[in-house]
Amino acid sequence: MSVSYVFLLISLMNVLRDFGVSGCVEQCKDKPVFMPPSLVVMYGDSASASCVVCNGCEGRLETPLGDKEENGTIVHWKVDRMTEWDPNIQCYYLIDGTDDHCCTKLPVTLYQPPKVVSISFLNHNGPMLEASQYTLECNIENVAPIKNLNATIYKGETLLGHLQSSSQHKKPVSEKFQLNFTTTEKDDGAQYWCKAELQLGPDGPESPPVVKSENISSTVYYGPRLLGPANPDLVTVTEGDVLQLNCSAVGNPSPLYTWTVPSGSAHLDNGSILTIDSVRFEDGGKYACHVSGNRTITVDFTVNVQGNYLPYIILGVIISVVGLLIAVSVGYSQYYKQKCTRQYILTGTGAAHCCSH
Ligand SMILES: *[C@@H]1O[C@H](CO)[C@@H](O)[C@H](O)[C@H]1NC(C)=O
Ligand SMILES: *[C@@H]1O[C@H](CO)[C@@H](O)[C@H](O)[C@H]1NC(C)=O
Repeated sequence: MSVSYVFLLISLMNVLRDFGVSGCVEQCKDKPVFMPPSLVVMYGDSASASCVVCNGCEGRLETPLGDKEENGTIVHWKVDRMTEWDPNIQCYYLIDGTDDHCCTKLPVTLYQPPKVVSISFLNHNGPMLEASQYTLECNIENVAPIKNLNATIYKGETLLGHLQSSSQHKKPVSEKFQLNFTTTEKDDGAQYWCKAELQLGPDGPESPPVVKSENISSTVYYGPRLLGPANPDLVTVTEGDVLQLNCSAVGNPSPLYTWTVPSGSAHLDNGSILTIDSVRFEDGGKYACHVSGNRTITVDFTVNVQGNYLPYIILGVIISVVGLLIAVSVGYSQYYKQKCTRQYILTGTGAAHCCSH
């Protein structure tokens, strides 16, 4: 009977002692020391820690899960599957001559990489318009702890923004992160994606857990935008030469081109470059290129065709040269004839001697 009474008393004391932790003092001398001083554990993984209390003191551990081994000044604790999101694990001992306990809490970060990371354009489907604002939304599901989450949104290799939650939940939660952006023509065909990274500090795993979303691509309607000048200079071309008028533009959808030409000219074209291989006088005048896409731009060209005087000049030169040659040869033969006659008179020899050649 006395044995069972003692047993009951001891059990009761144990219960009282365990309850006594709630009256625990954290500002005490000789606080119990955990090894390691904190834990970073992935949900469902195993974990362990030890605690040492002051010499001659009796170390005790309060924990909602796992196995403990209280062995004088050292307490060992381990668990095969860590599944408690906010575990209250405390190591303590009774302060001599009081009812208070000196205790230390083991900081535990239990983490879970996100189950889903996805990206979308908020309230938008299909092609977007240039110079307009849209919102990217990165959806991250079932991640813990959310305060350690760093969400980043990228366009190709370019970082567009870092986003963080203000929530302090320790259990897994889902959150949608938004980022506004304004489209430019360079965004046509761009790839957007989102990255979720848990930053767990030096006690965390060597490579922090990272989950990436799939890429989404954007179609942006833009332009048409002219590649050349909107107000081209007067085009001067010589009759018979090649005439080329260029109103190339870029855009999505691809620009379409129609031309209006001077009434005398009959060149029809529906490309960005109008070519006339041999210009005639009638081709001079006003040309307009209408570039159409999301809007229509008109480029006006004025073409001035100059007469081609080169053949006349060449003919003139030839005539002059021939005339000159004729004049020179006539003059020379006249001179020679005179000289010959004079020689004939002076020497009295036959004219054949002199003028036969
Ligand atoms: C995005 O823009 C909308 C409309 O201008 C604004 O209401 C919203 O707060 C912006 N969101 C962010 C994340 O900046
Ligand atoms: C037309 O003009 C654009 C812009 O100046 C230029 O890039 C392109 O090479 C030109 N095309 C031709 C065939 O000259």
